[in-house]
Amino acid sequence: MLALSLPNSKSNGNGAHRKVRAEIVGWGMCAPRRVMTNDELAAMLDTSDEWIRGRTGIARRHIVSDGETTASMAIAAAQDALQVADADPREIDLVIVATSTPDHVFPSTACQVQDALAARHAGAFDLNAACSGFVYALAMGHQAIASGEHQQVLVIGADALSSRLDWTDRGTCILFGDGAGAVLLRATDADAGVMATVLGADGSGGELLKIPAGGCAVPTTHESVTQGLHYLRMDGRLVYRFASGVLAEAAEQVAHKAGWEVSAIDRLIPHQANVRIIESAAKRLGLPMERFVVNLEEYGNTSAASVPIALCEAIEAGTIRPGDQLVMVGFGAGLTWAAAAVKWRRSPEEVYVSRQRRWWRWSLYQWAHLRSGVRRGLGRLAIWFIRTVEGRDDR
Ligand code: UT7
Repeated sequence: MLALSLPNSKSNGNGAHRKVRAEIVGWGMCAPRRVMTNDELAAMLDTSDEWIRGRTGIARRHIVSDGETTASMAIAAAQDALQVADADPREIDLVIVATSTPDHVFPSTACQVQDALAARHAGAFDLNAACSGFVYALAMGHQAIASGEHQQVLVIGADALSSRLDWTDRGTCILFGDGAGAVLLRATDADAGVMATVLGADGSGGELLKIPAGGCAVPTTHESVTQGLHYLRMDGRLVYRFASGVLAEAAEQVAHKAGWEVSAIDRLIPHQANVRIIESAAKRLGLPMERFVVNLEEYGNTSAASVPIALCEAIEAGTIRPGDQLVMVGFGAGLTWAAAAVKWRRSPEEVYVSRQRRWWRWSLYQWAHLRSGVRRGLGRLAIWFIRTVEGRDDR
């Protein structure tokens, strides 16, 4: 276990207790190599670069190819986050992957990440709150730490919605891209980290944004595939109206819960769905657009990955500085929404990781890969031995 071992509150010497919080100490992201431009879409569909840019702000998106999956992107983002934090993967207590496009129904993507990182003391699970998933997972990770139960939690948002898009539907396929972002949360008793969270849901709006087939209600069959029921379907206008309202409301709620005035939010990191949604929220909140982190021109809507990717880019660009008060807001299918208020402390200039530590972590990942392969092989061998050599079947 990590040497730092904090109970859920700590005396400051005057008998008063300071709260234990979750602080983001590492961050990382992964975007697939393949970039798809609006012009490429215009060559396939009745659309144009002008329409897509004008109505959404999107110019490009990154799409998985050549063996890239939600898990592979999540692993790459997580490895970056551990590098920045200079953390030992064996000291992670919990891995949460927010995704609605896992590699498989089970095993969970979180278990694939846990295995690849050699995080052998970690519990692992997937969380599905669609595009709100990362902020939901951040809230869960924060609570696991604030309760005193865990010291380090890896929170990842990863999605490859390109696998669920109808590439003939211009109302949806132009919006989405693939990617992953990760943060490592660590317990701290400093006045920094996650200060407040807000979670919300309204299941009555479930029909507005839905993938009808592939679950137990409509299992995948030849017919469901022929009817295209495994593709994402959306009522764009109604989702737009919901999103424009909830983004501002959730930001306001979480700021107040943290004890901040809205005007004291230094950076707002919204889910990257449509630049017009962000502009409308900026107007409602009375905040200038410069306070909003916007990168959807490059990535489009990457679902659960959009907030952590935007966070990573803003940190690396130096637009988030120590002492800044951040608000992150996610919203999407469910319907769901979530917000987190975070007091920032780290600067990218502080990040220094020696070559030896980098090499050590790389070796650990190679070892984890080898160990996992050997264990899978031994499992198969044992089954073969029982069935074939001993001539019995223990099932
Ligand atoms: O992460 C989950 C959250 N998702 C969202 O937040 C998405 C929210 N919705 C939106 O961002 C917008 O509703 C869209 C970008 C999806 C659509 O923009 P819109 O301004 O609401 O367009 P619209 O659906 O009202 O359609 C206006 C026109 C229609 O043509 P008619 O009926 O007026 O002749 C559409 O058929 O634009 C047409 N249209 C397109 N034209 C060219 C729809 N998609 C396209 C397209 N290219 N890709």
